Amino acid sequence: MAVRRVLKMGEPCLLEAAEPVTEFDTPALHTLIEDMRDTMHAQHGAGLAAPQIGTGLQVVIFSVANNPRYPDAEPVPETVLINPVLTVLAQEQEDGWEGCLSIPGMRGLVPRYTHLRYRGYDQYGRQLDRVAAGFHARVVQHEVDHLLGVLYPMRIRDLRYFGYTEVLFPHLQATMSDD
Ligand code: NI
Repeated sequence: MAVRRVLKMGEPCLLEAAEPVTEFDTPALHTLIEDMRDTMHAQHGAGLAAPQIGTGLQVVIFSVANNPRYPDAEPVPETVLINPVLTVLAQEQEDGWEGCLSIPGMRGLVPRYTHLRYRGYDQYGRQLDRVAAGFHARVVQHEVDHLLGVLYPMRIRDLRYFGYTEVLFPHLQATMSDD
């Protein structure tokens, strides 16, 4: 178990497509996920993708419960999602504020689909098939974007809605030491 360094925007490997996982329930995969969990929790992230710690595999984790970075977000179950496939269930999109551990100290307003289905596998190779809406759907889209080499600023429609967290959300600073 280890807290790993999170790569920041500007690193070329954050812009690369990740490779699918071909072997499940291996020591290497379990270690990767433990490191991702430790790193995400240490930084109070809502999610983390393997490329953010320099591993180019299609592995993401996410979890939202009483997160000081997202105090108004509805809870999202702790999830390991490998080789994800998203299906958009409604064409409707909604703007919402996002941050990213690879872009510390900033937030941007990003349009995301409001309803989707996601399928994939957990670290043991068990199939996962869920329907998500709202913030849950947003987190999934943000994390899966990392596997495509897409960072949230690339999705912002109007860059006037991109800025420093301390300026946009001064009340958040009292509860956050990082980002
Ligand atoms: Ni991110």
